[in-house]
Amino acid sequence: MDTLKVVILAAGQGTRMKSNVPKVLHRVLDKPMVEYVIEQAQQAGATKVCVVVGHMSKMVEETIKTRCDNVEFALQKEQLGTGHAVKQTGEFIKGGNVIILCGDTPLIRKETITALAKFHEENKNTVTVVSAEAKDPTGYGRIVKNGDAFSKIVEQKDASEDEKKITEVNTGVYIFSGDALYDALGKLSNNNSQGEYYLTDTLEIIAKQSGKVGIFKAEEFDEFMGINNKLQLADANRVMKRRINEQLMLDGVTITDPENTYIGSDVKIGADTIIYPGCMLEGKTEIGVSCIIGPNTKINSSKVADCVTINSSVLDRAEIKSYTTVGPFAYLRPDSKIGEHVRIGDFVEIKNSVIDDGTKVSHLTYVGDSDVGKCVNFGCGTVTVNYDGKVKNRCKIGDGVFIGCNTNLIAPVEIADRAYTAAGSTITMNVPEDSLAIARNRQENKEGWRKNKDK
Ligand code: UD1
Ligand code: CA
Repeated sequence: MDTLKVVILAAGQGTRMKSNVPKVLHRVLDKPMVEYVIEQAQQAGATKVCVVVGHMSKMVEETIKTRCDNVEFALQKEQLGTGHAVKQTGEFIKGGNVIILCGDTPLIRKETITALAKFHEENKNTVTVVSAEAKDPTGYGRIVKNGDAFSKIVEQKDASEDEKKITEVNTGVYIFSGDALYDALGKLSNNNSQGEYYLTDTLEIIAKQSGKVGIFKAEEFDEFMGINNKLQLADANRVMKRRINEQLMLDGVTITDPENTYIGSDVKIGADTIIYPGCMLEGKTEIGVSCIIGPNTKINSSKVADCVTINSSVLDRAEIKSYTTVGPFAYLRPDSKIGEHVRIGDFVEIKNSVIDDGTKVSHLTYVGDSDVGKCVNFGCGTVTVNYDGKVKNRCKIGDGVFIGCNTNLIAPVEIADRAYTAAGSTITMNVPEDSLAIARNRQENKEGWRKNKDK
C-alpha cells in the first residue's frame, strides 16, 4: 500500500451538542476531538488527509490548521448528508483506496485503521465497512445481512421494528476503492426519512453492481463511539483518560487515582514520577523521572526536569530544572525558566523571568520580567514593579542577593551581586554589589502620645 488517502467528515453542526461551538471542536481531554482522528490517520500512514468542513467551516479549518500539518479541506456548504459530504472532496477520492472516518469518533485507533486497510486488500473488496456489536444500538445504522452476506445499512430513523433489533452496527468507518465510491456517489438519492444523501447507501449500490462488500467486525465498540451529545462527550473523555493513564502506568508512572487524573495524549512522563489526584497535564508537557506532581495541579506545555515537586500549582509554558520545589499555590506563567534546587513557595507568581539555581522565592511574591541570579533570597511580599502603565521593564538581580521582606523593586532596576535591600524598601535606583539599600522612612517614636490623645 503506497498511498493511503483518508477523508474525515466534519461538516455537521452537531445539533444535539446544544452548543455554539462546532461539534468536532469540542474537546476530549486537551484536544478538539477531530484532532485525534487526523492524528491516528496520519500515524497509520495516511499520506493524504482531506477534512470535509461546513458548519462554521472557517473556525474548524483555522483550528485544525494551527494544530495539524498536511491536511487538505473540502467545503460542504449545506449539510445534505454524509454521502453528499464525501462528494464534496471531488477528485480527491479517485484512484487507489480511500478510508472514510468521522470527525466525531475520536477514540479510533491507528492499529484498527491499518488492520482495516490490510483486510480490505487481502480480501480484494470493493468496499469494507467496519461493524461492531453495540450493547445499545440506538441511533446507529444497522448492518442488514442476507445470511452472511452484506445486504444494506439501514439508519435508525428508517429501520423497521425488526431491523431495530439488530445489534451489529455501522461504526461509520469504511475503506472504498476510490473509483467505485466516486461512481456510487453519483447515483445516491435522498429518498429517506431525513431527506439526506446517505454515504451508507453507496454500499448497497456497490453490492448491486456486483462489487464485493466486506464487513470488518471490530472486537470492541468503544473505539467507534460517535459523540453526538455532551453525555457521550463525557464517556469519550473517560475512555481516552483511561487509555492514556493505563499506558503511562505500564511505563512506570505512579498514578494514585487514575479516575481523577487528566493527562493529554502528547504529555510525556518519566518512570517513578508520582501523580496525585486532581492533576490536569496538558499540551506538549514533558515531566522527568521521580517527580511528585499534585495534588490539584494544572500544567500546560511545560518542561519539568527530574526530581521536581509541584504541589497545588498552575504552570503554563514554564520550564523547571531538577530538584526544585513549587507550591503550594504557585503560578508559573509563560517563559518562566526556573533553575535547579530552587524553591518557589506559596502564593508566588512568576512571569517571563529567569530564576537561577539555588534561589528561594518562598512566599507571597511577584516576580515578572526579571533576571534573577543564583542563591538569591526573596523576603516575603516582594514585588517586582515591572509595569509603569505604558511599558514593561526588567529587573536584574545578581547572585547571592538578599531582598528584604516587603520590598518593591521599581523596574528597570539592578541589584548587583550580594547586595541587600532592607525590609519595606521601595527601590528605585540601582544597588551596587555588596551594599545595603535602605529606602524607607526612619522610624520615629512619639512617647506618651496615646495618653495625650485621650485627654
Ligand atoms: C452515521 C451513519 C450511521 C453510523 C454512525 C456512526 C450515515 C447516514 N449514517 O450516523 O450509519 O452508525 O454515523 O457514528 O452515514 N457530516 C457531514 N456532513 C453532513 C452530515 C454529516 O460532514 O451533511 C459529518 C458529521 O459532522 C459527523 C459525521 O459526518 O462527523 C457523521 O454524521 P452524523 O450526523 O453524526 O451521523 P450519524 O447520524 O451519527
Ligand atoms: Ca454521529
